[in-house]
Amino acid sequence: MSVPFLSLREQTATLRAELLESIGTVLDTQGFANGPAVAAFEKELAAYLGVREVVALNTGTSALHAALLCADVGPGDDVVTVAHTWISTVWAVSYVGARPVFVDVDPSTSGMDPALLERALTPRTRAIVPVHLYGHPVDLDPILDLARRRNIAVIEDNAQALGALYRGRRAGTLGTVNATSFYPGKNLGACGEGGALLTDDAGMAARARRLRDHAQEGRHNHVELGFNWRMDGIQGAVLSVKLKRLEQWNARRRAIAARYLAGLGEAPGLTLPQRHAWAEPIWHLFAVFHERRDELRAALERRGVQTGVHYPRPVHLQPAYAHLDLRAGALPVTEKLARTQLSLPMYPELTDAQADEVIEATRDACEELSGQRRAG
Ligand SMILES: Cc1ncc(COP(=O)(O)O)c(C=O)c1O
Repeated sequence: MSVPFLSLREQTATLRAELLESIGTVLDTQGFANGPAVAAFEKELAAYLGVREVVALNTGTSALHAALLCADVGPGDDVVTVAHTWISTVWAVSYVGARPVFVDVDPSTSGMDPALLERALTPRTRAIVPVHLYGHPVDLDPILDLARRRNIAVIEDNAQALGALYRGRRAGTLGTVNATSFYPGKNLGACGEGGALLTDDAGMAARARRLRDHAQEGRHNHVELGFNWRMDGIQGAVLSVKLKRLEQWNARRRAIAARYLAGLGEAPGLTLPQRHAWAEPIWHLFAVFHERRDELRAALERRGVQTGVHYPRPVHLQPAYAHLDLRAGALPVTEKLARTQLSLPMYPELTDAQADEVIEATRDACEELSGQRRAG
């Protein structure tokens, strides 16, 4: 048996008839760009999250870009964020002409370490962008408190944590203006690209709706530099079908995570993800850590288990950000996670038998690496 890192095949097969029917409505109504299916999905997602405004966009990267523009971040501003993330978080800061300033992460959440935040602020800091990585919320209250005191916007990058709870509240709805992604492999994934801006601020939502449609206010009246960030009608139709299953899928991910946590506790050399009492994570990824990550990854591959690495090179050490002049050693925890992190297969359609196969292979590989083979 082999276990793929991610498979969307089963989910798509199960929903096929419903998806085709929903997509058929778009074909019938010709609402291909934005249109009624997208508007309906926006309302449904807003109701699910308990947020006033959802603005559907073409990608999560655009959603971050839009959020920064809506928070009036621009050239000359600093934006404090993390380097242990998918690079889009930082691209968005660069797109608006601001300077990314990195703080290190807390190994217990893999997200922004609030204890390090205050000293990273400068008189130019205009926004803070924490990332809820792997589906586990960062400890947001200290970040929100500090931002409120200093009059700085908070923009949650919630691409990996849609549905997660932070102290009983939905991650991705607590910042000033926030972003999420519907990239196919996300917990709520489109059959193509998609993203959304989330906010309680009606003015910011109105601006984002304008920005996504060439900044038009009325037809052929372009009030600022605009973009084509519209969501495809077909993606809106797909996402409405899938949103109805999100809670059930996230619950299944939690059950798989519980199985992994119970089964992997004694694997030598393996550090398991933590779950804070104040968090209800949605396990977008199941991240483990091992000093000999690459060898462990190869050993799992030999045993038929595919894995991922999120992310092997932090943003501050990427060639695209060489101009920031940050060297290896600048962000020790970030760099350690980049060296040791490994993602095990995690998706709702993973069977118990497959999860057990992953557990068995991981324990066996860890024992092999530590030199202690199990008896029998
Ligand atoms: C943390 C994070 N931020 C931003 C994005 C960007 O989303 P998209 O791929 O939809 O542009 C992603 C997903 O790829 C992500 O994982």
